[in-house]
Amino acid sequence: MSRNDLSGKLEEWADDAQSHGFRSGITESTFEPGRPKRDRRKPSAKRRVADLVLPEAARQAADTETEFADADMQRLYARGYFDRLIGQVKGGKEATVYLVGRGDELFAAKVYADIDARTFRDDSAYWAGITIPDARIARAMKHRTRAGQAARAAFWVGREYMYLWQLHRAGLPVPRPAVGPEATAISAAGAVVLMQFIGEGDVPAPRLSDVRLAGAEAESAYAQSAAILVRLAELGLVHGDFSTYNLLWHREKVVLIDVPQMLELRNGRTAHELLARDVSSLVTSFRRLRVNADEGELRRAVLGAAREG
Ligand SMILES: Nc1ncnc2c1ncn2[C@@H]1O[C@H](COP(=O)(O)OP(=O)(O)OP(=O)(O)O)[C@@H](O)[C@H]1O
Ligand SMILES: [Mg+2]
Repeated sequence: MSRNDLSGKLEEWADDAQSHGFRSGITESTFEPGRPKRDRRKPSAKRRVADLVLPEAARQAADTETEFADADMQRLYARGYFDRLIGQVKGGKEATVYLVGRGDELFAAKVYADIDARTFRDDSAYWAGITIPDARIARAMKHRTRAGQAARAAFWVGREYMYLWQLHRAGLPVPRPAVGPEATAISAAGAVVLMQFIGEGDVPAPRLSDVRLAGAEAESAYAQSAAILVRLAELGLVHGDFSTYNLLWHREKVVLIDVPQMLELRNGRTAHELLARDVSSLVTSFRRLRVNADEGELRRAVLGAAREG
């Protein structure tokens, strides 16, 4: 499946979602994750800047406006969301993050790997709590047909935008999304989540897992992280992967990233299990920094917020 097909699917999905009055909680069929296919050779998800831009010769052969080999990045570029590629921030399993700019503004472009290269290996817990309101789409996703895989990827990117918008509007420290919130704009982004770049100049903010904070700074980082978890619970949400790998440390402030797997607490048991895991992984990582983090206390605060929110 090419990335063009994928963005086509995303458009379809967005239309579909709109015509179904998509919101979580409408239960027509609950999505159960299928098993990942094991027998296929996995293409590499790794991308470098050289893979993203067209080679000079190809650029000259194509029309002069074509800069990117990646159709989604090209579309965002052509629509003026950014005017230059600055470099790669991080390559990962599921996504590669690039730094792009428009005038003085800098953005992070999280480009999800082609769906064929994606693992989806250990995300069944997240999918288990998600309701797909359309039975046919749910079936295709469960059986991992090509269309089903495309729907999964589109769904994932759509979720990341929707939660970034929700959290940004609620005043939580997350990167401000740079596309949307209109569904048509988001569908045009294909497999790219474009958002505010968190960093100093072109240097990305470190993750909390990369800096060894101590003393008052570590205490402050823990207090801020715990407060984010409580705020999420007040909004009825659980992040689901709330670890120091997904918390950036920027000008003494904690910024939460990587939100596509967020769940609503009213979705039930899975969400509550993830909440318990989020609490304990946060506490564990800060105890390593000698912060006197009390798991019971944080759990009570979070559950209290969830009840009142
Ligand atoms: N808005 C941003 N500003 C600065 N850096 C960012 C931003 N978003 C992501 N990053 C950097 O890119 C890395 C990967 O982003 P993210 O956590 O969203 O993806 P991921 O799905 O966890 O990727 P993987 O699992 O492949 O590592 C982050 O750890 C962070 O270092
Ligand atoms: Mg991450």
